Amino acid sequence: MANFVGLRLPLPVLGGVCSSSPTVSRAVIRKWNWRIKGPRRMLLGLGVGVSFFSQFMTMATNSNSFIASARITAGPSVDQILKNVEWPEQFPFKEEDFQRFDETPDSLFYEAPRFVTHIDGPAIAALTKYYSKVFPPSDTPGVSILDMCSSWVSHFPSGYKQERVVGLGMNEEELKRNPVLTEYAVQDLNVNPKLPFDDNSFDIITNVVSVDYLTKPLDVFMEMSRILKPGGLAIMSFSNRCFWTKAISIWTSTGDADHVMIVGSYFHYTGGFEPPQAVDISPNPGRSDPMYIVYSRKLSTA
Ligand SMILES: C[S@@+](CC[C@H](N)C(=O)[O-])C[C@H]1O[C@@H](n2cnc3c(N)ncnc32)[C@H](O)[C@@H]1O
Repeated sequence: MANFVGLRLPLPVLGGVCSSSPTVSRAVIRKWNWRIKGPRRMLLGLGVGVSFFSQFMTMATNSNSFIASARITAGPSVDQILKNVEWPEQFPFKEEDFQRFDETPDSLFYEAPRFVTHIDGPAIAALTKYYSKVFPPSDTPGVSILDMCSSWVSHFPSGYKQERVVGLGMNEEELKRNPVLTEYAVQDLNVNPKLPFDDNSFDIITNVVSVDYLTKPLDVFMEMSRILKPGGLAIMSFSNRCFWTKAISIWTSTGDADHVMIVGSYFHYTGGFEPPQAVDISPNPGRSDPMYIVYSRKLSTA
């Protein structure tokens, strides 16, 4: 099976780097016909093509992992990317954008537990620090959190607990070992995007380095909106690593800034959310894994 750019590649090492460009690539600009107000339009122009080209070259020359050479050197800061976007009227992505190199059932890929971390220590520390700033205090009565695409770790602050912390993922052995969870559910969201929870039941939904595996993201985000309490917070975090055979093609063919746009678009086109915002919490740019957050709150009127 060929991937998005039509190459046949051997299976990668686990957690290979997906891409690492700050610029919105030509692929995404073409697809979206972006209209971005203000000075960003010019900045975007500077970077066009860099991420796509570097990624293409890497895919062509590296048979094991998907390592792009471009680093964050130019373009709008991540925090600005979702400001003043004039979104196209219709969701611009097509079915083929959500295809993966490996279309075998996800249950096979995640059958064996992986007790590993998928990003480096500084990136995890940055995420944990971010959580400690935006999460309600530990042990707040009535607070429920869902960690979507969860595993044996959720990267919550040490000792953090709430009455209800649910993990939803693909591997039961991993979920069983996650110390922060009070319950878990094993479910393939690409087969069944309906979340097995009541309406308005969660204060926070987290998803760490996994939004790129969702092949029906709008269905999942619709469900997230349904189960969040009004004003509830959804935090999607990602780096530049992934199991690239399992990531959607629009992700593996674009760079970091595109990924911010892509996740922002999920919130936007789902509706029922406040305008999404992006934050770059990368710990040591260029020396550790980058870490980006795209977040939004469910409208309090929804
Ligand atoms: C790269 S790991 C990240 C795990 C964890 N969030 C972390 O930060 O270490 C990807 C996770 O996404 C989950 N996942 C992948 N595809 C999924 C699917 N189709 N439905 C539900 N979860 C999925 C897997 O169970 C796996 O735990």
